[in-house]
Amino acid sequence: MPASPSDDAGYYPRLLTLRSTLASPDGKRRYVRRLFATIATRYDFITGFLSYGQDRRWKAKLVGLANLQPADRVLDLACGTGDLLFAAAARVQTAVGLDITYPMLQLAATRNASGAPLVTGDMLALPFGDERFDVVTTGYGLRNVPDLPQAVREIARVLAPGGRLLSLDFNRPENPVVRTAYLAYLTGVGSALGALLHRDPNTYRYIPESIRSYPGALGVARLLETQGFEAVRVVPVLGGLMAIHVATKVSIAPATARAR
Ligand SMILES: C[S@@+](CC[C@H](N)C(=O)[O-])C[C@H]1O[C@@H](n2cnc3c(N)ncnc32)[C@H](O)[C@@H]1O
Repeated sequence: MPASPSDDAGYYPRLLTLRSTLASPDGKRRYVRRLFATIATRYDFITGFLSYGQDRRWKAKLVGLANLQPADRVLDLACGTGDLLFAAAARVQTAVGLDITYPMLQLAATRNASGAPLVTGDMLALPFGDERFDVVTTGYGLRNVPDLPQAVREIARVLAPGGRLLSLDFNRPENPVVRTAYLAYLTGVGSALGALLHRDPNTYRYIPESIRSYPGALGVARLLETQGFEAVRVVPVLGGLMAIHVATKVSIAPATARAR
């Protein structure tokens, strides 16, 4: 049986150490990569289960909001097993998927009827030139990176002026009572699922732990506005427990615009 992230002293986590592991950028990067390599073959089942089968609907909503045109060049970041990538690839001529975890890409490759290129890479250092894409999509990508501002900078760099970003992710409820209940729920369900599937309750405790340190939908929206995006919208999903961000890369850098 493959080792779960929790079984490896090098990657630790029992719950107390999980929090401190995720607190360091390097710890989070290594933990996340290891986690998704471990759960890759069960990822689609788990995502469907935890979302009560709603995940596909949320992704369809994101694709609808993207208003893709055939000539759009699309980059799907943290593409995982490829849901968003393949939906985009059915609508445009150029769609590329990128993920840091090779086993996730291997699974995507088995479903890849479109022939879209699948690239192993890090969202924090994208292997693409500037302004190469018209649309960047990501499902549950931003919450998983160890350096969110750097990920947003990279997205802005590879987007052409006027290009769009669409990101689906968990929200971090602002209301402390709702947040506590929500995180407790995710911890309970995640623990049961981890014990059942991996004989390790900590496996899916990563989800609530990652939400704890995530700035939430409004925080991400504010960050996008400071990193070269405009028309930033947060579309609530599941009563605001999840969110889709829609943002446009500014056509003229603010500094340039002021100088004119
Ligand atoms: C929760 S899965 C989402 C997969 C897919 N986007 C979906 O919506 O089903 C998160 C994905 O992010 C990838 N990931 C995590 N950190 C990454 C990084 N720094 N660069 C690229 N991909 C990353 C993981 O390997 C994993 O496949």
